[in-house]
Amino acid sequence: AHRPLIAPSILSADFARLGDEIQAVAGDGDTRADWVHVDVMDAHFVPNLTLGLPVVQSLLKATDLPLDCHLMIDDPDRWAIGYAEAGAYNVTVHAEAATDPVKIAKDLRAAGAKAGLSVKPGTPLEDHLDTLKHYDTLLVMSVEPGFGGQSFIAEVLDKVRAARRLVETGHLNVLVEIDGGINADTIEQAAEAGVDCFVAGSAVYGAEDPGKAVAALRDLAVH
Ligand code: DX5
Ligand code: ZN
Repeated sequence: AHRPLIAPSILSADFARLGDEIQAVAGDGDTRADWVHVDVMDAHFVPNLTLGLPVVQSLLKATDLPLDCHLMIDDPDRWAIGYAEAGAYNVTVHAEAATDPVKIAKDLRAAGAKAGLSVKPGTPLEDHLDTLKHYDTLLVMSVEPGFGGQSFIAEVLDKVRAARRLVETGHLNVLVEIDGGINADTIEQAAEAGVDCFVAGSAVYGAEDPGKAVAALRDLAVH
């Protein structure tokens, strides 16, 4: 297997100091994050409100780490493209919210970004297989989207295993990403199930040294 990717979620960071908080995982070597995960919430698709495009535009100027924007919003058909045009590395929309997800993926890629499709814990993969062929990343939610610090839902690992099988058999060409409740106790089982990229919010920004937390999580994810 290749090197696991770690994507700290700034949802658990201090929003008054976002630039510094990203710098804490932007050092050299093992303590450097691979991507920075940015949770965009609109208080409609999920019952919480975070940040939007103006903040992402500022973060893009503040770091050279790739931004992994997770859009937990209604009408991504209208809003996702702006994040790609701004320079986000990967833009993930929710399968449950998208009206024309194939068009979204094509537009995101045309704007130079990778395209991500996310499914909530209760959303079956089978319903979106044809769509997934157009995407670069599959974000499997392992908590109900909306809040950091929730407990890992291990049942979603069946979905991860199914996706991994499709990738290995050449039926799918996506990076498998997991988001929610990932920490030192849960990351190994996710890695064994076939996850490529691990989002971690509270496990990184709740730690005394976020950079060390990144390195420790990546070590545990190597299997
Ligand atoms: C939740 C967000 C996650 C969140 C994860 O809806 O999508 O990215 O930050 O937080 P933890 O790692 O604390 O579960
Ligand atoms: Zn997220």
